[in-house]
This record gives sequence, structure tokens and C-alpha cells, in this order.
Amino acid sequence: MKTIFSGIQPSGIMTLGNYLGAMKHFVPLQDEYNCFYCIVDQHAITVPQEPAVLRENIRRLAALYLAVGLDPNKMTLFVQSEVPAHAKLGWIMLCTSYLGELERMTQFKDKSDGRGESIPAGLLAYPPLMAADILLYGTDYVPVGEDQKQHLELTRDLAQRFNNRYGDIFTIPEVRLPEAGARIMSLTDGTKKMSKSDPNQGSFISMLDDPATITKKIKRAQTDSDSSVRYDKAEKPAVSNLMTIYSLCSGKSLQEIEAMYEGKGYGAFKTDLAEIVVETLRPIQERYEQLFHSSELDDILSAGAKKANAVANEMLHKVEKAMGMAR
Ligand code: AMP
Ligand code: TRP
Repeated sequence: MKTIFSGIQPSGIMTLGNYLGAMKHFVPLQDEYNCFYCIVDQHAITVPQEPAVLRENIRRLAALYLAVGLDPNKMTLFVQSEVPAHAKLGWIMLCTSYLGELERMTQFKDKSDGRGESIPAGLLAYPPLMAADILLYGTDYVPVGEDQKQHLELTRDLAQRFNNRYGDIFTIPEVRLPEAGARIMSLTDGTKKMSKSDPNQGSFISMLDDPATITKKIKRAQTDSDSSVRYDKAEKPAVSNLMTIYSLCSGKSLQEIEAMYEGKGYGAFKTDLAEIVVETLRPIQERYEQLFHSSELDDILSAGAKKANAVANEMLHKVEKAMGMAR
């Protein structure tokens, strides 16, 4: 059975972009692959986090993973910091990296922009830690949104570089992008990705937003200058993004949606879209509420960490031995 690994940072409340670009695709994979899904808290601390908030966000994310339909009997869900091998291999992968290639990462450039001398060094070391996450499990495929593609390419380079030097230790992983929804855009700017760290709350829909908030955000979402519901990413990025969301949440094709709203303008389209998004998130939110407060959640994370530790330690031992460290 092939292995899948993916991670999400507990650095805020998951957005509809996280759901449609990543989480939703994790669910069917658990039936076909050996899946490891990780709450990457050590990635989150590359920028300062408030302890109480981080603790809550880790629990929230764990509950959300399960609420979307991941089943602890079918996959392994765990918290990165509870598996020390990640930090250990992360250091080794950092030592395998070149400064130049890390400085070239788009995410690093975006996040360090304007910080002068005070760029957190963790932002630079972020991709080697991500490589370690993936490589510890002999991962074949990594399902992520498009923004992570460059990090995956670096992971492959580092794995190859390590293998060339120390022997055939790592499986070279492949990225898996969703066919649609790999990049859900901001509701207030159709050319920027929807992000939970955007200071403008109206730019994203959180997976835990209530129906009134979702409806308000969709009603206020940016549209394009003409009033036709037509998919055209270059000319009409904002409406095309809303149509992608509509399509992914309803299962209807873009052509069907165009036909449904021909000559009707944006009003009717947005009213229906709000209802579809509300109904998509409703069952997830209901399960989430039950899970968040349950001790079952702690049991699932403990069992997940135990399983992950067993696999990760074995790989780490192999790596250290090849490098001349482990006895
Ligand atoms: P993050 O929230 O940065 O930890 O991202 C978690 C996962 O969600 C990654 O696989 C991202 O690629 C994906 N993701 C984040 N934002 C979006 C978006 N706007 N559209 C599609 N996928 C996204
Ligand atoms: N960097 C990813 C993001 O921000 C999160 C992540 C960390 C990840 N480790 C990973 C994703 C390993 C896939 C595999 O979205």
C-alpha cells in the first residue's frame, strides 16, 4: 500500500480554501492509502504564537480533521511536536540544504518581506522541516494546495541529494494537486489566495463561520464589472472563484452553473451560493462541536502519536546510521 502524508498548520481557523484545496481531498484517500495527517505545530511557531491560542488551535484543527470525515481506524492523525523525530530529521535536512535555495522560496520571501534584520530564522528553516515530515514516513504522495508545490520540489531535491551521498534511504515523494480548487482566492481580491492570516475577515470564510456570517461575506464578495455569471479566470477572476466554490460544494459543473444563471445577474447566484456553502459546512460544524470537547479526541491523538513515533523512529535510525551517528 502506498503512503500519503500531509500537514496543516494550527495557526488560525481553517478557511474554506483549506477545506476545498486540501482537507476535502484527504477523506477519500484514507480508503486506498496508508495516510498520515499531521498538525504541524512546529511550523506554526516559525512566527510568534500566543500559548493559550496555539493550544486551542491545535485542538480545533484535530477536531476539524475528524469532523470532515477522517476516521481514526483508517488513518493516523497526530501532532508534530509529539513525534520528536521530526525536529531531529528537520535539523539534518537543514544541514542538507543550501542557503541560496532556501532564500529563493516564495513563501519565505513573502513572509519576510519588510522585516529587515528581524526575519525569524525559523521561516528560512521551515521547508527543510517540512521535508523531514514527509521523508520520515517513506511517503509516495503529498496532497496539498498549489502554494506548497515549490516546497515539494525542494523536498525532492533534498531527498535526492541525501540519497546520492548516503545511499538509497528516502522515497522520492510526488505532489498531488487537486484538479479544481488548488487555489481558492480571496473574496475581496480575486487575484490573491484566500488565507486565514489575512487581516481582513471579509476576505475568507472560516470553516466555523455561522450561517449569517457566511451569507454576509458572500453577499459582499467582490464581483467583476459586467453582471454575467461566466467562468473566465483571466477576465473575471472574482466571479470565476465564486463559481469554483459553487461547483466544488454542489458537485455541479461550471457549465451547468453558467446555464443556471444565464441572464439572472449576481444577486440570485450569490443567494444560492451562500446557501450551498452553509449546507456544506453545517454537518462538519455539528460533528466538530461534539468532538472538540470530548476526551475521545485526546485518545485519538495519543494513539496517532504512538503509531507515528514507531514509523518515524525507524526511519530516523536508518538515516543516522547511514550518516555515522547512531550506534
Ligand atoms: P496552511 O493553512 O498554510 O497550513 O495550508 C494547509 C493546506 O491548505 C495546504 O495544503 C495548502 O496548500 C492548502 N491551502 C491553503 N490555502 C489555500 C487556498 N486558498 N486554496 C487552496 N488550498 C489552500
Ligand atoms: N507548509 C504546509 C502549509 O503551510 C504545511 C506542512 C508542513 C505540510 N509539513 C507538511 C504539508 C508536510 C504537506 C506535507 O500548508
